[in-house]
Amino acid sequence: MASKSTAAPYVEVQGLVKWFGSDRAVDDVSFTVPKGNFVTLLGPSGCGKTTTLMSIAGLHSIDAGHIRVGGMVYTAPKNGVFMPPEKRDIGMVFQSYAIWPHMTVTQNVAYPLEMRNVPRAEIETRVADVLRLVGLSEVAAKLATQLSGGQQQRAALARAIVPRPRLLLFDEPLSNLDLKLREQMRVELKRIQNEVGITSIYVTHDQSKALVMSDEIIVMSKGRIQQKGDPHEIYSRPANAYVSNFIGVANLLKGRVIAVGEAGRGEIEIAQNGRQAQLPCRLADGIGKGDEAVLSVRPENVQVRHDNGSGRCVEGEVLQAIFLGNCVDCRVRWGDFEWKVLTHPRVHLNKGDKVYLHLDPDHTLAVQP
Ligand SMILES: Nc1ncnc2c1ncn2[C@@H]1O[C@H](COP(=O)(O)OP(=O)(O)OP(=O)(O)O)[C@@H](O)[C@H]1O
Ligand SMILES: [Mg+2]
Repeated sequence: MASKSTAAPYVEVQGLVKWFGSDRAVDDVSFTVPKGNFVTLLGPSGCGKTTTLMSIAGLHSIDAGHIRVGGMVYTAPKNGVFMPPEKRDIGMVFQSYAIWPHMTVTQNVAYPLEMRNVPRAEIETRVADVLRLVGLSEVAAKLATQLSGGQQQRAALARAIVPRPRLLLFDEPLSNLDLKLREQMRVELKRIQNEVGITSIYVTHDQSKALVMSDEIIVMSKGRIQQKGDPHEIYSRPANAYVSNFIGVANLLKGRVIAVGEAGRGEIEIAQNGRQAQLPCRLADGIGKGDEAVLSVRPENVQVRHDNGSGRCVEGEVLQAIFLGNCVDCRVRWGDFEWKVLTHPRVHLNKGDKVYLHLDPDHTLAVQP
């Protein structure tokens, strides 16, 4: 999927800093979101995702930086600007559904329009349209308490989008649902967002959700941004060992760059308990000759063979090979290191086999430690 991030910024967060006492919860975070895009803030618990979202919503003041949406300054402490949250025209969907139990689904979804004095006839049409969009037309007359978890989450979403806000913010909205419903809802949610075209920022610690739904992913750790990119970029070209490890599975080995060639290519040397290998690789930005780096290789990008072919490869011993039907999940010992490999089931492997790992230089990365 092509990144849409070249479009003009609609949301602009620049140099955001937020302190809680002596804890710098958000530490110089900057990013932009083009109009209509779906961007995910992804990172482990406590990395500052909710704080960033709350700052955009105006539920937190900030200590430095500025926040702009659609050309309007929302927060800029340096200039004394702080737009109150109710003026920001932002829709929010949280983990807890926060829909009113004493109201029907229709009443819940109509409420934000009533608050804005929208004429009755228009309310009826808009509510019916939104309920159809989220698949709740059938249960429109039910009380919110009579809905399943997934339906309540849809009702909360309908209520957030019905006023057509400038921006939608989601904070882990699917984490209360069971796995199956969650998988279904994440596809649904992306479809609905696409249809209504509202610019959205989604917060999660779940990388699979981020990969499925996002136009762009912003990986955070300890209040800082580690990398921004579309899902493909984040997965296949991680900038550093943290991102490699947080998104998907990777073989990570400390090494040193021993050669730098054209177009981001080079060579990395790795060593493990008496073993040594020099491997052609791609270099992440900012890595030069002689630099310490981390070798990062996804298990699906390693080929296990019984021959050493003509290319440079890593020689090891099979520790385990589990047949999974469409692939073999294999562990190969090299010095003290265990390579994780997903290989084609055509290759018959047995414990103790001496094998050669063939690494594709395009998918063998030297990343920042
Ligand atoms: N109201 C608050 N008062 C004091 N400290 C806070 C407050 N809110 C957050 N923090 C601290 O700020 C840091 C970032 O918290 P935040 O809630 O933004 O994390 P998060 O990425 O949303 O995590 P999670 O995935 O667990 O929701 C944490 O160290 C947290 O303890
Ligand atoms: Mg949070």
